[in-house]
Amino acid sequence: MRIDIITVLPELLKSPFEASILKRAIEKELVEVHLHNLRDYTDKTYNQVDDYQFGGGAGMVLMIEPIDKCISALKAQREYDEVIYMTPDGQTLNQKIANTLSLLENVIILCGHYKGVDQRVRDLFITKEISVGDYVLSGGELAAAILCDTIIRLIPGVLGNETSALTDSFQDNLLAPPVYTRPSEYKGVKVPEVLLSGNFPKIEEWRENEAHKRTKTLRPDLLTDEAP
Ligand code: ADE
Repeated sequence: MRIDIITVLPELLKSPFEASILKRAIEKELVEVHLHNLRDYTDKTYNQVDDYQFGGGAGMVLMIEPIDKCISALKAQREYDEVIYMTPDGQTLNQKIANTLSLLENVIILCGHYKGVDQRVRDLFITKEISVGDYVLSGGELAAAILCDTIIRLIPGVLGNETSALTDSFQDNLLAPPVYTRPSEYKGVKVPEVLLSGNFPKIEEWRENEAHKRTKTLRPDLLTDEAP
């Protein structure tokens, strides 16, 4: 998979890809992530990429021309499955969307800033708009990092244990069951007996029960939503 991220703040997006699982995925060549500075695609003085909005109103708007130039340059090199715009008014990200996106070959992610982008960018170039939740960030970069993290960890071979993404919370609309590690007793608090029993069918049954109990208590809405 190849992910091209267009941003006015590439420095904000560097570190998530320089540590831990995402770094390893890049090193193993399971994913390529390329950051593109929008300011490299403007001819204006001071590398200007934003302007006042027509009709007045507070806040600057990212202009269409540098975005068009950047997207066109990328599209001249390969075909893209999706051009995603990170925005609080997009579709709220969930595990089902992440699963679908993780199967794609080439994806562009455009990070919004200030008041957002000229509407014509959305009308002409964007194929999917994604929000990471009902709150407003200063820009789309942190949202793009979240989106990339959730997609990349699903690519086969990225996680050490291939099954571990399948047993994540939300994969079957259930929260994950509790987990424990050594010691089996800490300050008098014991690990549930069944986990130490070696009886794997019983352990599986316990985990399923706990997942249902936890979901019913913490996220009952998941039990009534459509399965992913
Ligand atoms: N940009 C600003 N806020 C955002 C959000 N909640 N999701 C995605 N992109 C954003």
